[in-house]
Amino acid sequence: MDRETSSPSGSAAEALDWASRQPAWWHDSGNLNIRVLDAVARHGQGIGLRESAETGCGLSTVVLSTIAERHTCFTIAEGDSLEKVRAVPHLQAERVDFVIGPSQRTLPSFDFPRPLDLVLIDGPHGFPFAHLEYYFFYPRVRSGGILVVDDIHIPTIRQLYDVLRDDRMWEHVEDVLTTAFFRRTEAPVFDPFGDGWERQQFNQRHFAQPEVMDIYAPGWRALMPPPPAPLLGQNSDVVPTQAADALRQEVARLRAENAALRASTSWRVTAPLRSIGSLLRR
Ligand SMILES: C[S@@+](CC[C@H](N)C(=O)[O-])C[C@H]1O[C@@H](n2cnc3c(N)ncnc32)[C@H](O)[C@@H]1O
Repeated sequence: MDRETSSPSGSAAEALDWASRQPAWWHDSGNLNIRVLDAVARHGQGIGLRESAETGCGLSTVVLSTIAERHTCFTIAEGDSLEKVRAVPHLQAERVDFVIGPSQRTLPSFDFPRPLDLVLIDGPHGFPFAHLEYYFFYPRVRSGGILVVDDIHIPTIRQLYDVLRDDRMWEHVEDVLTTAFFRRTEAPVFDPFGDGWERQQFNQRHFAQPEVMDIYAPGWRALMPPPPAPLLGQNSDVVPTQAADALRQEVARLRAENAALRASTSWRVTAPLRSIGSLLRR
């Protein structure tokens, strides 16, 4: 078996060994691959994991219960994943708090007593549920903590992944099969109650090359007012050369628009009116 060479200790090693012998559909929602579980254990042990949380349950719950001091699992009791997990002898049940119910309902009102060292998002996969879970988790993850996002091949979850890949709050550590691992940086928490889209690196990267956004809405560049200051590199994190390029492109576009307007028939036809207007204003 092609497994990561890590050296998880004691009960974690036993749980991983047991997990490596389970079928891909050990429970009816589909479990994490052993290579991903190995990586979860490796990262968890690497950061001295104490406090973890996940959405959904399965083999990951068993493994995380052997590593974390406290593990909170937000899951529904439908299907067989929960009952199967609860019956596994390797589960360190006394360390796990199961919060039963749709995470869409349970997460928003959950009061995390301590910062989280590791979060695994692997519950409901429809849009916007992984995004929603991310929203309630991200302010809780401590600097140096690990965020694991499963199923990055699902297009909607890929969008979340793409945004995180650019985000200064996260350093992309690795992808294992279809699971992504990010490390929380020292960057300030993005205000969960504000807006600030123009300060987000994913948007800034796109605005640095505005023409790439034509695929989203052809013609948008002619309709918009100038981009907000942060997109132009003022008080922002955008790479200066990209910001300067964006600004130059914007200036060129406005000049071209201005020239086209001045050359237009209506501009020439209304010239006498503008002359009268400026005489009256004197
Ligand atoms: C892909 S499985 C998780 C696999 C698990 N990480 C493992 O290693 O075996 C998805 C899990 O999400 C749970 N789930 C589905 N919808 C949910 C919801 N709305 N809220 C919370 N959990 C949900 C399923 O019951 C299942 O346990």
